[in-house]
This record gives sequence, structure tokens and C-alpha cells, in this order.
Amino acid sequence: MEVLNIFQGKKKKAILHINVSTFEQFKAGIEAVKESKIPLIIGVSEGERKFWGINYFEDLIDEAKERGIKVYSNADHTKNIKKAYEAIDYDFDFVLFDGSELSFKKNILITQKVVNYRNKNNKKSLIEGELGYLTGHSDIENTIELKEEYFTSPDLAKEFVDQTKVDLLAISVGNVHGIPQKIKFKNKEFKKITLNFNLIKEIKNKVNLPLVLHGGSGLTKKDFIKAINNGISIIHINTEFRKIWKEELSKLIKEKTVIPYKILDKIIEKLKRKIILYQRLFYYV
Ligand code: 13P
Repeated sequence: MEVLNIFQGKKKKAILHINVSTFEQFKAGIEAVKESKIPLIIGVSEGERKFWGINYFEDLIDEAKERGIKVYSNADHTKNIKKAYEAIDYDFDFVLFDGSELSFKKNILITQKVVNYRNKNNKKSLIEGELGYLTGHSDIENTIELKEEYFTSPDLAKEFVDQTKVDLLAISVGNVHGIPQKIKFKNKEFKKITLNFNLIKEIKNKVNLPLVLHGGSGLTKKDFIKAINNGISIIHINTEFRKIWKEELSKLIKEKTVIPYKILDKIIEKLKRKIILYQRLFYYV
């Protein structure tokens, strides 16, 4: 698939992945790509798909593509195999089968089934596997406990990729979902996430495919640049955009007007600016 060409070549770069559950977030993504001319992956988790209606979401993406806008759809964190099949049937550009809560063997077995389903049905969706556990939720969290046993093992990553033949791999290298007030790790408390950049490099050296970093909210510019330089090709950011949406809406809702677009337009502009900022940072490292 043509999107994979982005990750070829010597120059290191990554693509931003955002999650959307409102039309404002979706439109901000489209407007950002129109201005930046940098590809964007727009993802919807199982919950977000249910909220949109999977057909409505894919129609919006298809319509944007027909107008030449470089956006790609992702069925994010799909834990139910039937939902993964459904996303493949709907021609999502990417489908993440997230078997990270399963045993290693079972994760391989079910991820293989998803890849086989795509192949058997001559579908084009790229399949992302997930190995290592990502704790937290895409929300404002109090304390998140991180354990070293959650991290992706480079050797197991190789075995996983060889056996499943996935196209991309999501890894756990200290990243968490959400914006926590505190991180607990090895009996200590931290204010900020510390990624294991060497581990990213080790995994990248073992598996020759694009690596995906979930849980981008709360990471710094330096973190992103180092992660990309060590082998990350796609970066997911969700909570940070959800937070902007809520904060802007809470401010603007107090205005006297009852005309939704006069309020929502301002949220879209704010989101769009932030999306472009990350797109440029990741793409022109
Ligand atoms: P954050 O909510 O921590 O940015 O993570 C998003 C994500 O990884 C979605 O797949």
C-alpha cells in the first residue's frame, strides 16, 4: 500500500495518528492535511467506531480521499476478532488487532487469523499487531502504574512478526495511554513518562517493519525526535486533543449564541493548529 512508501528511504520521519469521536476533531484533521500537505492517520477505536457508525466514518474518509486529501483510516485497538474482520471488510487502511492482553501464543494465533482473513479476501488493509502491554486509558488519569514486564521483548517481537506476518507493530517501551498526574515505576513516583529509546532501537534492529508508538500525549518534543530517530514511524496522540476539545468547549459554551458552528469553528481551529504542529515536527525531524 502506498502509505508504506512514506517509511522507506533514508530520511527518518513519522506520521501522526489522531483519534476522533466528534466531527470537530475529524474536520480539524482534514483541514490540517489540506494546509500541511502531510499525510495523517485518523483512527477510531471500537468504542469510537460504535459512536460514529463504522459506515459513516469510512464514508467521510473515502470522500476526503476522493478530493485528494492524504488521510488514512485506522481501526484502532481492536480486541474483538469479528470487529477486526468488519474493519477489513470496510476497507480500513489500517487495522490494529490488539492482542496485548492475551498470552503470547494466543496473541500470535489470533493476529495470524486476522492477517489470513485479509489475505483470503484479497483486502488491502494493513494489519498492525501489538506486543507488550500498554497501561492507562486516553483520559486524564490520577496515577498510572508502569511495570517493566509490560515492555516489549525484542526477541519475542521478532518471533511475533515472523509468525504473524503483520505489516506494523505497536510496542511498549515505557509509553502509557492518557495523561497521568503521577507515574509509579519500580517503587518510585515520576511526574513524566521516560521512554526506553534503546529498547526502540533494539526492537527496530530485530524487526524490519514500521514501529508504532501509542500513548503520545504528555511526551516532549525531545522525546518524539529521539523516538523517531530510533525507529518509530507512527505516533498516536489522543488525550491531548480530547483535552483541547473539552477545555475550549467549556470556555465557549458560556457565550450567548446558540449557533453551534460559531462555537465549534473555534475549537476546530485550535485543534488544527496543534495537529499541524505535530505533523511538521514528526515529518521534518
Ligand atoms: P494517548 O491518549 O495517551 O495520546 O494515546 C493515544 C493512543 O495511543 C491511541 O491509540
